[in-house]
Amino acid sequence: MRLLINFLIVCIFAIGLHAKSYIYIEGGIKLPLKQQKITLYGGVPVKVISQNGNFVKIKMNGYVDKKDSLSLYATKNHKLLLATVKEPNLIKVSGDKGILEAKVPKKNITDDMDEAWEANSDLFYDKCTKCHHAKIVESHSMQTWDVLFSSMQPKARTTKKQSALILRFLRAFAKDGILRESD
Ligand code: HEC
Repeated sequence: MRLLINFLIVCIFAIGLHAKSYIYIEGGIKLPLKQQKITLYGGVPVKVISQNGNFVKIKMNGYVDKKDSLSLYATKNHKLLLATVKEPNLIKVSGDKGILEAKVPKKNITDDMDEAWEANSDLFYDKCTKCHHAKIVESHSMQTWDVLFSSMQPKARTTKKQSALILRFLRAFAKDGILRESD
């Protein structure tokens, strides 16, 4: 019994440590943190390191492109941006991976993945279900979604910003993306 309780405590602790937070930008794609020379992208998962007043210190792990030292991507294929920086030394690079830390206003952090992606998914379910049922995002890779989206965009007649929001959603939740839609 005691073993079981210890085991449960460890489990709960582990879940707590691994609980993800997400960058939340109301209706927007980018969050410029001018003084830190960092721009973060909406919806991306982050680890909260500490809290101080109205700011939260976060850390994000991603991939870097050797040709572009100012961008941090969610995946190896460099298709989904996590952040961009004005100075390359802000991203700690090791091999093809990179780590970035930033101080983010509390209002731009949420534990609720659906809230973080709401603007993107609302647009997808609005613009992309007029002629057919919502296609299952998880059933295609990022690469395939890029192609499918460019053939569907003229039909959906989305603006540049709407297209960017939908594309980020498709890439993030694609088969080889970083997130899974919750039901
Ligand atoms: C004006 C109507 C219209 C709109 C709006 C529209 N589609 Fe389509 N879509 C079609 C038609 C027609 C087909 C082909 C028949 C089918 O597969 O249902 C299609 C097919 C697809 C397919 C299957 C293609 C394949 O080769 O398997 C995907 C995926 C898709 N659409 C995604 C989207 C996305 C994402 C959006 C929003 C950006 C969107 N569609 C908006 C009309 C539309």
